[in-house]
Amino acid sequence: MGESRGKKAIIIFGPPGAGKGTQASRLIEELKLVAIATGDILREAVAKGSPLGVKAAEYMTRGELVPDEVMIPIVEEKLSEDRGDNGFLLDGFPRTVRQATMLDDAARKNGVKIDKAIYLKTSKDVIIQRLSGRRVCPNCGAVYHVENIPPKVEGVCDTCGTALVQREDDREEAIVRRLVEYEKQTTDVIRYYRKKGILVEVNGDLRIEVSYPMIVKTLGGENCS
Ligand code: AP5
Repeated sequence: MGESRGKKAIIIFGPPGAGKGTQASRLIEELKLVAIATGDILREAVAKGSPLGVKAAEYMTRGELVPDEVMIPIVEEKLSEDRGDNGFLLDGFPRTVRQATMLDDAARKNGVKIDKAIYLKTSKDVIIQRLSGRRVCPNCGAVYHVENIPPKVEGVCDTCGTALVQREDDREEAIVRRLVEYEKQTTDVIRYYRKKGILVEVNGDLRIEVSYPMIVKTLGGENCS
């Protein structure tokens, strides 16, 4: 992997429940990107009971950020893997300015260009409505919403037929904590990318049928390699 490969990375970020994962799953499929979704990586580790999962679980359940020291090596490793020929999509990383600067370093080292940072600006009422109605598939990870994006059969995953569940951190206390952490740590990341001139602001309140095409258009509507 070197500079000549010219791989690109797109970041999608915003508050909890903004729709990062929902938009990311569509983008990955349409643009054939390699996903680096830190929330999914951590949840998988928790489910397996791996050392990373054991460490991460206590933070996640409380709605706090997992420490940078734990997160940064995970993303460094993913970026250095010889995949992502069409580019990477980072969902949920970076969440702190320290993570953002580390990402710049790791990208440089691996010949990856951080192309755009899509910020899903979303209002608090919408966030609460989305998180309280979210249902996820514990088997394949598909994400639904009881009203906004319901499965064909109530409570059952369209893709694999497994019974849907609520995420542990979608309890009220954890949601409140996640929003506080977001305000405290992640809003500076908006300024960081604005200053770099790669921030793209998208109205996250909009229905997916409206916001998703806006994002694709922003990315040039084509493969971002
Ligand atoms: P993570 O999984 O990344 O959680 P989050 O940032 O809180 O975001 P969510 O997954 O809750 O929401 P989302 O924006 O993906 O929304 P979704 O698409 O599901 O991280 C979890 C935890 O891991 C963190 O709290 C932290 O502890 C740890 N962690 C992860 N990354 C870390 C890092 N880098 N550093 C430190 N710690 C880290 O949509 C929400 C709902 O709305 C769904 O039901 C969906 O169907 C619906 N919906 C989505 N879009 C729309 C739309 N446009 N219209 C209507 N409904 C919609």
